[in-house]
Amino acid sequence: MVSQNEYQVTESDLDHLKQWFSRYVQSFYSADPVVQEGLVLKEKHSFRVCDEILNIGRKMDLSKNNLRLAEVMALFHDIGRFEQFARHKTFVDKKSENHGQLGVKVLEQENALAALPADARELILKSISYHNRLSVPEDESHICLYFSRLLRDADKLDIFHLVSTYYYADGAERSAAIELDLPDTPEVSEEIMACLSEGKLISMQHLRSLNDFKLLQMAWVYDVNYSPTFQMIYERDYLRKIRDTLPATEGIDRIYARLMSYLKENIDASASVKEKQHES
Ligand SMILES: [Fe+2]
Repeated sequence: MVSQNEYQVTESDLDHLKQWFSRYVQSFYSADPVVQEGLVLKEKHSFRVCDEILNIGRKMDLSKNNLRLAEVMALFHDIGRFEQFARHKTFVDKKSENHGQLGVKVLEQENALAALPADARELILKSISYHNRLSVPEDESHICLYFSRLLRDADKLDIFHLVSTYYYADGAERSAAIELDLPDTPEVSEEIMACLSEGKLISMQHLRSLNDFKLLQMAWVYDVNYSPTFQMIYERDYLRKIRDTLPATEGIDRIYARLMSYLKENIDASASVKEKQHES
């Protein structure tokens, strides 16, 4: 459990931050349709991550204050994406810069969080800088780990939504911004298959094709933290939707079955914890 009302974020703070976000994003709007498409994609994603963090947070009985704090994190988690895309025309961090760190820099330079208490500000900046790391540093405070994990879960839920619908769009609607400039070729890398068979997370550096990227996205279930998130991934059938766009091979079937049983185990485990709590 997270302690309640530790970091004050008021309804009026949240309103002002939403207005700031919209003004900031609109300052990058461009006549270049490729740039504009990339910006709007991330703007909409940011709003949907706000909805998802509230969906998870409410199921975890967060206080109204903590829900507002979480919403600010979600709203700003990808704030570095706008400068990144406007400047480099790519969302690939290794070809441009780390968008989590860039986001922290933007918020600090623009003094966007100045109205919030210093401790809330620090927590928000840390969760943003950790949201796109392979993992969250274990030596952080309990509260920082709690919110950083919540943000990572909400972000993943929306990426699952985005990619599981996107892969069904026809060629004309496909976008290099989502596919990270990876080639849509039939192969799947041996290295990726080996990592997945061992239940390991895959690093972005190992990606060679769009199929590799789809497998990496499916493997994000290993990095999910909270039971409401596991439940929503299962109910929305995200893994199967991505799996159905991959080649029908035995190797991929095996990996899909493994990921699905991991998902179910985590739902069952949290259900039995709840039952025990009710009994006691
Ligand atoms: Fe994101």
